[in-house]
Amino acid sequence: MHSLRNPRVTVFPDAQTGARVVAARLASALQANPQLVVGFATGRTPIPLYDELVRLSASRGLDWSRATTFNLDEFAGLSPEDPSSYRQFMLAHLFQHINLDPRRINFLVGDADPDQECVRYERAIAAAGGIDIQILGIGTNGHIGFNEPGPGLEARTHRVRLRPETRRSNAALFGGEIDRVPLEALSMGMATILQARTALLIANGERKAGCIAQLVHGPLTTELPASFLQLHHNADLILDAAAASQLIGHS
Ligand code: PGA
Repeated sequence: MHSLRNPRVTVFPDAQTGARVVAARLASALQANPQLVVGFATGRTPIPLYDELVRLSASRGLDWSRATTFNLDEFAGLSPEDPSSYRQFMLAHLFQHINLDPRRINFLVGDADPDQECVRYERAIAAAGGIDIQILGIGTNGHIGFNEPGPGLEARTHRVRLRPETRRSNAALFGGEIDRVPLEALSMGMATILQARTALLIANGERKAGCIAQLVHGPLTTELPASFLQLHHNADLILDAAAASQLIGHS
């Protein structure tokens, strides 16, 4: 079913069903284009998607060996081997379970010189031909990647100062200790994200309902970075019933 709205909204009864649909879509895209370039996201939200992708990759014999990946963001100051890094999160939940070529896994390196690293990453994305499908979560404050709400947004990959609520929601990766969560991160910028040919944003649960309603019904505003997805011509919101519960026309 198509609507004229940008982004398109699809509501599933539960997170698991949405994860299955997104995994099947990625699998079909990979089968159609073995050199697919996928942007991945971290957080609790995409874990059921990654579980499902691991399962589908085994059952359908999906070949990821020519695919390329880019992750949205990484904590500043952490080495790629740090167990709290997003790179290690992706290895544990997805990368070590599918046959990706490690040379085609791209990550921001948290302990590199930040300015040079951000330029390197933009060039690597361009050299790969851009991102075909970008998976996104959304923060309860409306961030995507680590593009935090504020008076302005950065277009390109950059260093960001994390908001307290973002550090709190990442504390689990640091043994539950918010003080151990880095103050800064490196993140793709809004233009980098919006240039992905397809954007799939997944949101589940009551605590995302408010920012999802603002994203869909509100104005474009840097105070809700995800609102800029309204400018994307091929973006989908994949929601469970709770995350959709404040949308007009859904109950
Ligand atoms: P979550 O985080 O999936 O853990 O809710 C999403 C985000 O902050 O982008």
